[in-house]
Amino acid sequence: MATLGEADADASANSPAPVVPSKRPWDQDVAEDPNTGTIKAEKVEAGDIDTPHMTLSESNPRSRDGVARVKKEFLIATAWSRRGEDMVLNDDAAEASRHGKQDEDGGSKGKKNRGQNKNRTFGVWKEEKTLCATRMLSPEFSPKECKFGDKCKFEHDLRKYLERKEGDLSTFDGDCPIWEAHVTCPAGWKCRFAGSHSKEVEREDGRSELVLLKDEAEDEERKRIAEASGYVVDELGLVNIVSTEAKFQLSRNQFKMPKSDQRQRQENRASYTEPPFLPSEKRRIYYGPETPVLAPLTTQGNLPFRRVCVSLGAQVTWSEMAMGRELLHGQPSEWALIKAHTSELSPPRFFPSEDRTNSVVEGYDNAKDSKFGVQIAANKPWLAMKATEVLTALCPHIRAIDLNCGCPIETVCRTGAGSALLEHPAKLEQALHGMNLVSNEVPVTAKLRMGWKKNDPNAEKLIKRLVLGGYEAMEKGAGPSGVAAITLHGRDKPQRYTKAADWSYIAECSAMINRLQKDSDAVADTAGELDDRYKPNGGKVYFVGNGDCYSQVDYYDHIKNAKVDSVMVARGALVKPWIFEEIETNQYLDKSASERLEYIKKFVQYGLETWGSDQLGVNTTRRFLLEWLSFSCRYVPIGILEYLPPKINERPPAFKGRDELETLLSSGNYKDWIKISEMFLGPPPPGFEFKPKHKSNSYDVEG
Ligand SMILES: Cc1cc2nc3c(=O)[nH]c(=O)nc-3n(C[C@H](O)[C@H](O)[C@H](O)COP(=O)(O)O)c2cc1C
Ligand SMILES: [Zn+2]
Ligand SMILES: [Zn+2]
Repeated sequence: MATLGEADADASANSPAPVVPSKRPWDQDVAEDPNTGTIKAEKVEAGDIDTPHMTLSESNPRSRDGVARVKKEFLIATAWSRRGEDMVLNDDAAEASRHGKQDEDGGSKGKKNRGQNKNRTFGVWKEEKTLCATRMLSPEFSPKECKFGDKCKFEHDLRKYLERKEGDLSTFDGDCPIWEAHVTCPAGWKCRFAGSHSKEVEREDGRSELVLLKDEAEDEERKRIAEASGYVVDELGLVNIVSTEAKFQLSRNQFKMPKSDQRQRQENRASYTEPPFLPSEKRRIYYGPETPVLAPLTTQGNLPFRRVCVSLGAQVTWSEMAMGRELLHGQPSEWALIKAHTSELSPPRFFPSEDRTNSVVEGYDNAKDSKFGVQIAANKPWLAMKATEVLTALCPHIRAIDLNCGCPIETVCRTGAGSALLEHPAKLEQALHGMNLVSNEVPVTAKLRMGWKKNDPNAEKLIKRLVLGGYEAMEKGAGPSGVAAITLHGRDKPQRYTKAADWSYIAECSAMINRLQKDSDAVADTAGELDDRYKPNGGKVYFVGNGDCYSQVDYYDHIKNAKVDSVMVARGALVKPWIFEEIETNQYLDKSASERLEYIKKFVQYGLETWGSDQLGVNTTRRFLLEWLSFSCRYVPIGILEYLPPKINERPPAFKGRDELETLLSSGNYKDWIKISEMFLGPPPPGFEFKPKHKSNSYDVEG
């Protein structure tokens, strides 16, 4: 049985300091042959790859029809060979999934949500009469008192409850994975593995009592470790858990937001009881080639998935986009998105160059940095500000707060949030400015798209404004927005995923932002004197590029050629979370199907820890697992590809894997995904339904 310490060994919170590689990948030269346009990958150690080349010439068969070239012996002809055609539509639908429902009527001017399954349901499974919470963690003969007494609508008789309860799951060898990892299980009797952490004991009066196993020493040890860590942490290692009381106050509009109130009353700095932190006084952050970033991902970027990515080398993680308004209303489902795992709190990897000429800023303290940031969406500056104030007041473990200015979903944009902000530069600047005023030491960042309109990018102008300050703000003497970092997704809003991200535009913006910061003359020309106090991060605004990164080759190419500080990875991580390991080791990794199944198992374990191992938690874990499998099935093992590097926009043809499991893992049929979920979660309850986001995933593999 694992102790708490051992169980957490995979969490980099406890892992030793990273070893600095002698030659860093971003210092290496990528050999390019100008005649053939062939770039040779530096290091190819995956399985039996014959052709470690990326051929860019027109005659390259890989680029002819956008289909990934799989070695002949693995190709098959089936009904699902069509599945790739709808892949990009699937991405749009996935991004909208959580917000999709309200989207149905609105859409863009009557345009249908292309291919999106409506009314996605998962079937609601409820225990007939569930066990009263007062009994959940108690020994049979000494339950806690229920204040509803006989009128309580929940079951008070433990034996009756257990008789009715669905039998224990036999997966994980019947051993509760939560208990195995933590020697405690918060689901108690409701756990679907309760048998493995309970027993019946004979009492002196001859009666036998049902009791849950308990390990006092472990409980003590857990408390000790939690206290020593300095984290406000729950028993399973989760942080940023907001009390019901605080959410209730928010819902009643009773939660105090003194900073935002002062700001709204336009009081000047001198009259603040606690003057706001200036951008220059905030905690410093760092982005570098050694810190690949996991993107904020609605639905998909849940805590268990982020944990899997961190264990594979992700150095910066972001919450799913949380709606500012719903946070302010105390909406529990929105606050749930802000929870993080302790493994996301350890500092990001950091290799300063000896002369510190890389992008390390003055006063950066790696030990004070962490990985996990929170992204919010808001359509009004005051909303962004208040959400930020509440977040910083209630959640002690936030690296940075990011304002979403890229979300293309109609329900979000219609209100003026997400990418709609790109059209309103002054408002956007004001929002970030306000966020910075109330966020205390927490830096504020922004994630942009290239622009709102088709082929008419304005991100470059926006970036300039966010770094230097627009004239409105400068006239008022308010200083620039003070953003500590900007991420740019190289697509405009109408573009969605059908076309490749524009890395040359990202490179342009990167050059511009570097110029602004290096060349103080350029700055003086455009903006007059810039007050150092308003500069975040010792004067450095980090710049992160995003779009289509699908291997270490893409990653280092962008670092080197687009000169971004770091690269953010979204779909690439969903399809193959070990992309972070590829980046760390600078080599292709040909993961076997059984290794991939291990990641799925890890996800399930983390899911049960996050959502509970009772029936509800099992259902939730299955739901999010199926969502993830709808992406991970797209992976084409690189050992069976004819050309490398693999490209995210190349659609997989129908192929068979190198073994049965590999074939199963690449199935686009949701029934197969349910089959995979059963390996760890048993059969779904009666009435369980899973309608994938996109219909292209729901056809059968027959024929
Ligand atoms: C399923 C899904 C959910 C997403 N959710 C968010 C989100 O909550 N916030 C955000 O800023 N971007 C979101 N995005 C956009 C990604 O963060 C990223 O900008 C985009 O996918 C491009 O990166 P990629 O080419 O690596 O996928 C989402 C994308 C996908 C596919
Ligand atoms: Zn009761
Ligand atoms: Zn349990």
